[in-house]
Amino acid sequence: MKKNVKTLNILNEKTCNCPLNHTNCLSAKEWLHHQVAVWEFFYEKRDIRDKETHPAVFPIALPKKCIQLFTHKGELVLDPFVGIGTTLIASKDLDRNAVGFDLKKEYVNFSKKRLEQKRLEDSSRQIIINDDAINIPKYLEKESVALCVTSPPYSNMLNRKRLNKSRRGNLRQDKIYMKVQQYSNNPRDLGTMEPRVYANALGEIYKGILPLLKYKAHCIINITDLWWENKRIPLHIYVIEALEKAGYELRNTIIWDRRNLVNGAGIFGYPNNYITLGTTFEYILDFWRPPK
Ligand SMILES: C[S@@+](CC[C@H](N)C(=O)[O-])C[C@H]1O[C@@H](n2cnc3c(N)ncnc32)[C@H](O)[C@@H]1O
Repeated sequence: MKKNVKTLNILNEKTCNCPLNHTNCLSAKEWLHHQVAVWEFFYEKRDIRDKETHPAVFPIALPKKCIQLFTHKGELVLDPFVGIGTTLIASKDLDRNAVGFDLKKEYVNFSKKRLEQKRLEDSSRQIIINDDAINIPKYLEKESVALCVTSPPYSNMLNRKRLNKSRRGNLRQDKIYMKVQQYSNNPRDLGTMEPRVYANALGEIYKGILPLLKYKAHCIINITDLWWENKRIPLHIYVIEALEKAGYELRNTIIWDRRNLVNGAGIFGYPNNYITLGTTFEYILDFWRPPK
């Protein structure tokens, strides 16, 4: 943790004219459109898809949808595992203030560069901090955050040689084949931890975040299950259990349909071991801080 940490000077009040009892700035018609529980996203030009820059980046459209659904203009968004800053780009686009944390300095530096691009009117602020997410309570005021949205490491999924098993024939041997793509060797990196240890560590981090959220503020976690030595590891269930233990309430389970992003899939498991292609979907778990 950095020395002399002071609470950040960042605004968190809504700046729009929507009624106070509305969850967001959406019209009834737009709300209706968001009710479908299966979400699909497309990458845009600004999205970074080079796995050597960062191995696990989500599309800008994902945090954008969450921000539109669960915040008003001017409110504060938190991403505890911000990677190369995708959530903050989406926040900037939508005039939301935002704070992101990441353990790895290189990612933080990259995010800062990404956020340098000015918009015509920049009425919000986005701050990126190089620190362990366990320290977030030292930086933010209680009941100041309107939305916490992130994709944490998926336990130690990346901490092994990449075999690209789901890819077809010679597509398998791309530039990441047989590489270990872990974020870091830092023992506090959630990406180095076995699933159960990981779930405990994640639960501790979210326990600290809970009082920073406004009552009824949503908390979104994008996660997937794992296969390990022909066993299914239901990571999304571990995450639900950890968050409930930390005081959150599960509100919605959303499926991120990724079929539009999968190409060149190979056959595996045939003819006697049926295994669904893990890359075709992920979970978007929606929790909230229960009302007072
Ligand atoms: C799946 S990535 C997030 C990627 C991000 N959504 C993006 O689009 O760039 C997870 C991030 O968590 C970071 N991380 C792992 N353990 C952490 C910890 N204890 N505190 C803060 N960040 C951590 C890793 O460095 C990694 O960048």
